[in-house]
Amino acid sequence: MTLIPPSFVIAIDGPAASGKGTLSRRLARHYGFAHLDTGALYRATGRDVLAAGFDPADPYVAARIAAALDPASFDDPGLRVEAVGEAASIVAAHGGVRSALLELQRRFAATPPGGLAGAVLDGRDIGTVVCPQAAVKFFVTASPEVRARRRVLELEGRGLPADEAAIRADLVVRDARDSERAEAPLRPAGDAILLDTSALDADAVFAAARAVVDQRLFAKPE
Ligand code: DC
Repeated sequence: MTLIPPSFVIAIDGPAASGKGTLSRRLARHYGFAHLDTGALYRATGRDVLAAGFDPADPYVAARIAAALDPASFDDPGLRVEAVGEAASIVAAHGGVRSALLELQRRFAATPPGGLAGAVLDGRDIGTVVCPQAAVKFFVTASPEVRARRRVLELEGRGLPADEAAIRADLVVRDARDSERAEAPLRPAGDAILLDTSALDADAVFAAARAVVDQRLFAKPE
């Protein structure tokens, strides 16, 4: 019998624009692990619900659409538009949507594509629900002011208009919806390491996270 070594899973949760996406991509590249932006699954569900002309608040329609997602569409740039982000936050509160997407996320973590040795998953409930056994868990935060500023710079960098006050207000509403929902709310796992990125640049966040992962990855057994 051939034993397949377990995948090394890094779970990264946190609110929008906290820096978790950048950190996840960098960690995955550095360690040669697969990366799954799980927000893309909720965004794809929101996008497909809107495209079909339905209301994202309808739990039955959203759950059926989540169960029929096409993984080839997860890197569609259309996922990043504001209306889709808003629809994603609404469909993400439906239990049926979350359970339709759970298996795909767990499979990715346990058997990363390409036979890679590990996986980095980022989202809101990775450390608490999707991968409670992850080898390392981070909870990445930053103040709403810093996150709004980052979003503005990101939009301006793509040549898009950005109203900072409106973006900040929207982030606060979305945080509340993600944190206060009954199903898999945004909250740190009990054993997550908190990384407040308000006063840190991307390099400093990466260095801090890498020190933790190195320690777990290369720790000598007692
Ligand atoms: O990270 P993001 O902005 O792409 O996420 C879009 C929405 O999906 C966000 O409102 C929260 C939700 N989401 C979730 O509920 N659980 C996840 N694991 C990832 C995202």
